[in-house]
Amino acid sequence: MKALPKVELHLHHEGAAPPAFIRRLAGERHVDLSQVFDADGGYAFNGFPHFLQVYEAATSVLQTPQDYARLTRAVLDDRAEEGVIYCETFLSPDFCGGGDVGAWREYLAAITEAAAEAEAVHGIMWRGIVTAVRHFGPDQAKRSSLCAAETAGDWITGFGMGGDETKGHQGDFAYAFDQAREAGLQLTTHAGEFGGPQSVWEAIMDLRVERIGHGVRAIEDARLVDALVARQITLEVCPGSNVALGLYKDFAAHPIAQLREAGVKITVSTDDPPFFHTNLVREYDMLAESFGWDDSDFRALNHTAAEAAFCNAETRARIMKKLETN
Ligand code: ADE
Ligand code: ZN
Repeated sequence: MKALPKVELHLHHEGAAPPAFIRRLAGERHVDLSQVFDADGGYAFNGFPHFLQVYEAATSVLQTPQDYARLTRAVLDDRAEEGVIYCETFLSPDFCGGGDVGAWREYLAAITEAAAEAEAVHGIMWRGIVTAVRHFGPDQAKRSSLCAAETAGDWITGFGMGGDETKGHQGDFAYAFDQAREAGLQLTTHAGEFGGPQSVWEAIMDLRVERIGHGVRAIEDARLVDALVARQITLEVCPGSNVALGLYKDFAAHPIAQLREAGVKITVSTDDPPFFHTNLVREYDMLAESFGWDDSDFRALNHTAAEAAFCNAETRARIMKKLETN
């Protein structure tokens, strides 16, 4: 599984921070993070709201562009180790300069420099999706989307939203998504994770996204499954994350195989791998064990991911070539 070339579309940059990395930085900054870790040194949380709190506490030690450059190296080294050849991560101006465009540019410069180094060392390609945090509200999301619009290009290629899906409605964020679309960015939002099918409908109708983060609870509404197929919307499915956060009791109970059989475009990602004690190799192993998926299924899955990647034609051709020749 490790050797299989992989495309990962749904990864939160801070959520991919190894716990030891965050602990070391907390030590350097003299920040007390004792509430963030369990006795084994892993991230400790109990349910989704607490997960978001622990995530933000861990993120609070990342305070400078150079911290993000260090984080980027650690995150990309780990992905390369798992056989990832192309990935997209969610980056939030909220955490990188507080939503100020000038500060965001400084963070972005440090991050892209580290990404270029990682590509030179590992050959791993990487693009960024600027991401609003839903529970920070629509006004802060507008600031994030302005940061996205101002830096849109061959590297910042998408705009999205994560955070607490139980707060407000997708449509409350339409201004931010429209601003990003007008800047040429492709769109995704977390929906159908802790919100039900209605949240996925709103993502499609009110935000007009082309991909959906998770989206798995669409399985509860047959008309919605049909709409996802008809509109060729790709789901960024993160089964291990859903199991770890208590959405499904185990992989066998996860709807990913049903959604795929219904004709929905399915991809597989890890979300926040160290938080959920997972990585992409483990996700594939668990899917093989639970649903009998084999090499050809995973190759098809990665082809779907490459087709849905938020990148330009030249980069997509490079991804396809790597998928086909490895
Ligand atoms: N931010 C980081 N991980 C997330 C998740 N699984 N859902 C929503 N927001 C997130
Ligand atoms: Zn996510």
